Amino acid sequence: MALVSTSLGGRAVSQLSAQLTQFSGLRKVFVRVENSTTDSNPTQCFFGNVGSHVQHASSRKGCRAVVAMAGSGKFFVGGNWKCNGTKDSLSKLVSDLNSAALESDVDIVVAPPFVYIDQVKNSLSDRIEIAAQNCWTGKGGAFTGEISVEQIKDLDCNWVVLGHSERRHIIGEDDQFIGKKAAYALNQNIGVIACIGELLEEREAGKTFDVCFQQLKAFADAVPSWDKIVIAYEPVWAIGTGKVATPEQAQEVHAAVRDWLSKNVSADVASKTRIIYGGSVNGGNCAELAKQEDIDGFLVGGASLKGPEFATIINSVSSKKVAA
Ligand code: PGA
Repeated sequence: MALVSTSLGGRAVSQLSAQLTQFSGLRKVFVRVENSTTDSNPTQCFFGNVGSHVQHASSRKGCRAVVAMAGSGKFFVGGNWKCNGTKDSLSKLVSDLNSAALESDVDIVVAPPFVYIDQVKNSLSDRIEIAAQNCWTGKGGAFTGEISVEQIKDLDCNWVVLGHSERRHIIGEDDQFIGKKAAYALNQNIGVIACIGELLEEREAGKTFDVCFQQLKAFADAVPSWDKIVIAYEPVWAIGTGKVATPEQAQEVHAAVRDWLSKNVSADVASKTRIIYGGSVNGGNCAELAKQEDIDGFLVGGASLKGPEFATIINSVSSKKVAA
């Protein structure tokens, strides 16, 4: 087995290296060359159903166990606490997170329920940023039950989660509505964790890329810039089900999303934008997922409610490091 470095599109195999000991978010792609090929992998065969028409993804076929990032952004892990917790349980969670040893090369954000944001903000280490789980489409006012971006800023939150499948499919939010929220939040300098992902029936119908690209386009059409957007690819069938996407399934879509950004926004945005995976990520599966070159981090639901396990997921950034 040898370690070689190659470019994003797999263009040039430049040099043998056993030097890289630290991952710092720079665009480095290190590939372990193995004798086996992905052609014999049944999971890879499944990609035919998904519609693999992505050039640079397929050009990487055969490159397994990649231990680096195709993008240039820092590893990013978000904890989506959803509608869970009490004052007491969140106080315990915060204290577990405050005492956890966390790798430095990771941006960490948690999204508590609105009513507990202040409590969490006042007790959680500054190492971890706070996100809101939703926001209104514009300035606050007579919108019963809504939370404005101005109020989110007032609580010192820097991020908002938008387009989550639970809001799309349970609450009924559509692409345009979500796009409006994203545009307003970004205009107010709040970062957006922009969620996309297909339903099981859409995957089985071979529409995974169509659905993801349509949801991406709605964001792209609405937002003023991509500087503060993190894309979360969350297949709906994997959320809260315990049925995680395989690393290969996730990588395939992540590579396609990066390719879409490159073709439809810019190569620079494609490189800089973090594309994180969500859907039944836990302490046991995070390391293998993190090794995929287009997986730049995670959005975690259930496992983010357990401090030590969430810390393990955060620290899976170490899977990006190539041993000397
Ligand atoms: P899960 O949720 O980790 O519980 O599957 C992920 C999410 O909804 O962001």
